[in-house]
Formats: sequence, structure tokens, C-alpha cells
Amino acid sequence: MKVLLTGGLGFIGSHTAVALAAAGHEPVLFDNLSNSSPTVVKRVSQITGRSVSCVIADVRDASAVRKAMDDERVEAVVHFAALKAVAESVSSPLSYHANNVGGLLSLLEAMDDVGVRDIVFSSSATVYGEPHELPIDENHPTSAVNPYGRTKLICEQILSDLTRGSGEWRVSLLRYFNPVGGHPSGLIGESPLGKPNNLMPLLVRAAQKTGSGAHLSVFGTDYPTTDGSAVRDYVHVVDLAEGHVAALDRLATGDALQIYNLGTGRGTSVLELLAAFEKANNVAVPHVSAPRRDGDVAAMFASVDKAQRELGWRAQRGIEEMCLDSWLFATKSHSDLGGALPV
Ligand code: NAD
Ligand code: WQD
Repeated sequence: MKVLLTGGLGFIGSHTAVALAAAGHEPVLFDNLSNSSPTVVKRVSQITGRSVSCVIADVRDASAVRKAMDDERVEAVVHFAALKAVAESVSSPLSYHANNVGGLLSLLEAMDDVGVRDIVFSSSATVYGEPHELPIDENHPTSAVNPYGRTKLICEQILSDLTRGSGEWRVSLLRYFNPVGGHPSGLIGESPLGKPNNLMPLLVRAAQKTGSGAHLSVFGTDYPTTDGSAVRDYVHVVDLAEGHVAALDRLATGDALQIYNLGTGRGTSVLELLAAFEKANNVAVPHVSAPRRDGDVAAMFASVDKAQRELGWRAQRGIEEMCLDSWLFATKSHSDLGGALPV
């Protein structure tokens, strides 16, 4: 099947392109390069051993989306393209709503025009807001705690409405927990263009700058967790990518609206991740204790039973592999991607 991947040059999109190709599908990448490099196309082609099509355009340009879908005879869409920095969404809510919600609307219009109505959407565990219970399953109440989260919730609602309409739309909402890692080739990984916000790229950066006085700030060491630092469900991006293949396969047979958590079901604290990274890669990560970050919760991890039951998908890779593959990409392959992490 030919599948359009909006945001296909990004962290999760590029790994999903590789997983789709490995499963016999044909990915068509579509990206405006706002947080990625064109080099990724070459890297994905190198890993898959075939030339991968790519259109450089914005999803808010409905005619460009229509043309890409027509030219490539696309049959389904995975919609990754979005802005994702929580703090930036607080300072620039308009650009987040315009890009994430506006982008989805114009994509859906273009899809409707060309008669393609199967879509997998990149949602996030952020839609669960403050956890009421752990592990979090798909029936947990949803709420938004920042503008980024609100864009994800609004997009989920728009897509849910479509499945209650004509009966033609088939939608899979994938709620990712904390994606980390990279491809085992070291050719693709997480390479944000601006200042990184997530823990793993910041941890990698601290490890790369050992000796310079730079360090990782551990946000909160007084949480009610085993070691006082906050707990999250880190999931290897290659596992996540394979989850998209399973979700696309399931779209054809299951309910019109399908919702799945993609995580490992296991919680790891910041200090545990840091220690695992140092051990796996035999490097030091200079770090200091810092106050809690505004808006953070003590612990969050997924119930992954539904994905296993209905998609036949379960994450296979552990914390050690996540640490090894994040470091491999940072040290071997990152320099010519134009990202923020110095090598
Ligand atoms: P990313 O920034 O690496 O990838 C997103 C890609 O979309 C980038 O290549 C960017 O250039 C592109 N893009 C953004 N706006 C666009 C537009 N208007 N038109 C065309 N392309 C556009 O991010 P990622 O980590 O790969 O995230 C992918 C998706 O998963 C996003 O929707 C994100 O919100 C969601 N998500 C990410 C995480 C995470 O921690 N990485 C967690 C949960 C959900
Ligand atoms: C993980 C843990 C931090 C940086 C965010 C979004 C969520 C989703 C995934 C998109 C937390 C701690 C971090 C640092 C630290 N994204 N930390 N020092 O906050 O769980 O989730 O990314 O949908 O919506 O909110 O991920 O990687 O930012 O933080 O101690 O320098 O690492 O406090 O406990 P988070 P994260």
C-alpha cells in the first residue's frame, strides 16, 4: 500500500517510513522541513535500499497535499506533521493551533477531495492530562494541560466526529508515551533543529559536553517515586514505528475509530534512565538536582494491553537498547543533519 507520511522526515516519521518499507508498503514522505533536514530522505533510502519519494511542502497547502496524493496514488495517510514543544506552545498558542489544528483540517479536506479516508494520527499521552490512575488505559478521561495538548485533543475530536458521519472515514488515534532511541544503523534518530526540550536529547548533549561544565538538570528529586525523580514510559522509536504498521493493517478490519496507547507499560525514573545511559554507553552524564518543572507529573506509564490484544503489537526493546541507539545516532551520524546537538 502507498502511504503518505506527513512529517515523514521527522523523528518518528522517518523510522515509520523504514518500518513500512520493511513490511512491503511504499512510504511517500511529505514535510515542510520546519524541524527536519532533507538529508533524512537519503538516509531512509539508504536503510531501505530503495528510492523513497518525498514532497517538500506544508500540510496547510491543501493543493500540494492533493497533488502529492494524486501523483503518487496514495491509499492511506499517517499524519505526524505538527509542532511539539510544550513550553513554546504556551508562548505561541496561535502558531500551535494554526499548524496542528489548521494543518489537520486542510489535510482532511485534501484527503476527502481525492477520496482517501484512512488516517493514522500521531496523538500523545498528553491527552490524559493529570493521571487519575496508573497504568493509564485508553478509557482514562482526557483533558489538556497546555496549548500543545489542547491541539492534540481537538484533532482527536475532529477525527472522531468524521467517523460518526458518512461512515467512510477510518481513523486510528495512536497515543505515544515517551519516544526515544534511533535506528540501529545510526543513520536516523532524533535531531531537533532548535533547542531540544525532551529528556533524551538533553541527556545526550550533556554526555557529549562532559568536561565543559555543561550538565543535565534533573527536574524534581522530591517526587513520591522510588528515587524521588519523575517516572515516564520510554518507548523505542523502532517499536513505535512498527506500531504504526500494525495500526494501518488493522484500519481495514476494525471499528471506524480505533484508539491505542503505544508505550512499554513500564515506568523508568529520570535517575534510572541516566544511570542506564551511563552504563550502556560507558560515558558520564554530568547532572545536578533542580526544582520540579512546571506542569510535570510525578509518574506516567501506559497500559498496553489493548494494543497487544487488537494490534498484536508489543514493544520489544528495553531501556538499554534505547540508550545505545540514541547515543549511536548522536555520535556517528548527526553532524550533517543540521540539528542542535553538537558532535
Ligand atoms: P518531529 O518534529 O521530529 O517531526 C515532525 C515533522 O513534521 C518535522 O519533520 C517537521 O518539519 C514536520 N512539520 C511540522 N509542521 C509541518 C507542516 N505544517 N507541514 C509539513 N510538515 C510539517 O517530531 P516527532 O517527534 O517525530 O513527532 C511526530 C508526531 O508525534 C507529532 O505530531 C508529535 O506531536 C507527536 N508526538 C511526539 C512525541 C515525542 O515526544 N516525540 C510524543 C507524542 C506525540
Ligand atoms: C521526561 C522527564 C522531566 C528534561 C513531553 C510532552 C508530551 C510528549 C512527550 C509530545 C520529565 C524530566 C526533562 C530535563 C529532566 N510529547 N526532565 N531534565 O514531559 O514526559 O513529555 O514529551 O506529545 O506531551 O509533555 O517528556 O522528555 O520533556 O521529560 O529531568 O532537562 O524528564 O521533568 O520527568 P514529558 P520530557
